[in-house]
Amino acid sequence: MKNFRIYKLLAFLIMLVISACDSDDEVIYVSPSGTDLVQASFTYSISTTDPNVILLNNTTQGSGDFTSEWDFGTGDLVPDEPGLEELRLDGVGSYTIKLYVTNTAGFTEASETVRVDEDGVCPNSVCGGGDPSTLKGSAKNFSVGTIVRDNRLTGMHDEVIRRDFNNITSEYQMKMNVMYPSQGTYDFGPSDAIVDYGVANGIDVHGHALIWHNATPSWVENFAGTDAEFEAMIRDYITTVLERYKGKVRSWDVVNEAIEDGSNALRNSVFRQRMGDDFIEKCYQMARDVDPDVLLFYNDYNMASDSGKRAAMFAIADRLKTLNLIDGIGAQLHISYNGPARGEIQAVVDGTVSRDLLMHFAEIDIRTNPEGNSSVTALSSERALLQKDKYKELAEIYTDIPTANKFAFTVWGLKDNESWLLDFWGVPDFPLLFDDNFNPKPAYEGVIEGFQ
Ligand code: G3I
Repeated sequence: MKNFRIYKLLAFLIMLVISACDSDDEVIYVSPSGTDLVQASFTYSISTTDPNVILLNNTTQGSGDFTSEWDFGTGDLVPDEPGLEELRLDGVGSYTIKLYVTNTAGFTEASETVRVDEDGVCPNSVCGGGDPSTLKGSAKNFSVGTIVRDNRLTGMHDEVIRRDFNNITSEYQMKMNVMYPSQGTYDFGPSDAIVDYGVANGIDVHGHALIWHNATPSWVENFAGTDAEFEAMIRDYITTVLERYKGKVRSWDVVNEAIEDGSNALRNSVFRQRMGDDFIEKCYQMARDVDPDVLLFYNDYNMASDSGKRAAMFAIADRLKTLNLIDGIGAQLHISYNGPARGEIQAVVDGTVSRDLLMHFAEIDIRTNPEGNSSVTALSSERALLQKDKYKELAEIYTDIPTANKFAFTVWGLKDNESWLLDFWGVPDFPLLFDDNFNPKPAYEGVIEGFQ
């Protein structure tokens, strides 16, 4: 890396000289402050003729002259050539590919981790294989996720997570009210434990959720400073969190549930009041400014059952897409065995895919007692089979999504008695894939069947 810095300094000086001499002997001195940094970016695809070859496309956009160099994982710099760069990755493992872009203002970098297994490069960085009788082993090039807490990472929780899942979401400990309980005082204890667990076990971590009206610390709700100071505080918070987890947390729900039920207008949250109607765009830009490689999602509920809310969500996504500030949509899918209908769920997928965004089925649970019958004492075999059918339907819908738009199929909990729904509705229910003793239910088999 030391060589790289020397190289960059030389490149910078050369660029200055070239730009000064590059015009019919007229001397032009380019003031470094007169140009903006050019943000490096690239994409890759897997060769259709060789599963161990990727085709790298330098998608950097910027005015003026800039140079691009690749680091294919060795630390050596390779100048970018016009067109696609072919790269063979033979050994099983993870490779970090970097692109450095230099102009007179300095340099920026972009990086991607590419995973390779015995079948070749893994699409979406999710390797197949593994035991096909498990959830993650039966999923085709997408992750299977669940939620975690820092005090549920050992024993049977750990065993089931590592056997069946390759993506984890913090149920509540990566929200602002936990990570930033008082101004200037962060508490990253629980979130560090969760992120460290994911990194240690090769499990992707999905950050949830930076900005959410239901997890806003009271000091933020009652912020005494000016609007400009509020916005600066939010930028500091987002920057602090994303810098801390850069390269460890693969994706973030930057804003969660910003749409008001019924009106489908933006919720009148403190964020909207203090930062303006464009608070969403501002928050995603703050995140993007810190980490050009992290995947940014918008997450909300009732996307399937409420077509008006779905349309409002896609309008937000469209605004963010024009600014290149969004990578995916999270549909929470807190649903029931008897609804919403398959076509309504498919409409969420279709709108996401048509926008070339990643689809995250982000918080799946399927109520077996939506009637709220308080006398229910156990899951009947009839309701268990109806729940299995609905989980299978969700799994089929997800499996049929184009590979390029796949991300993760995440259930909102491991075992039934840990579900938030029990407290929320105050009646018995059995919404998840495992019973109270971590035994797979018919719903578990339904997911695996749907993944076939
Ligand atoms: O674990 C502590 C406990 O030690 C403490 O004594 C107690 C009282 O303060 O709080 C406990 O933490 C609670 C935690 O759930 C675990 O029960 C938090 O206060 C409580 O806020 C937290 O609620 C979470 C909620 O989001 C708010 O963050 C739920 O677990 C979680 O399932 C729920 O998830 C949301 C998604 O983030 C967004 N979509 C809807 C979904 C359901 O509301």
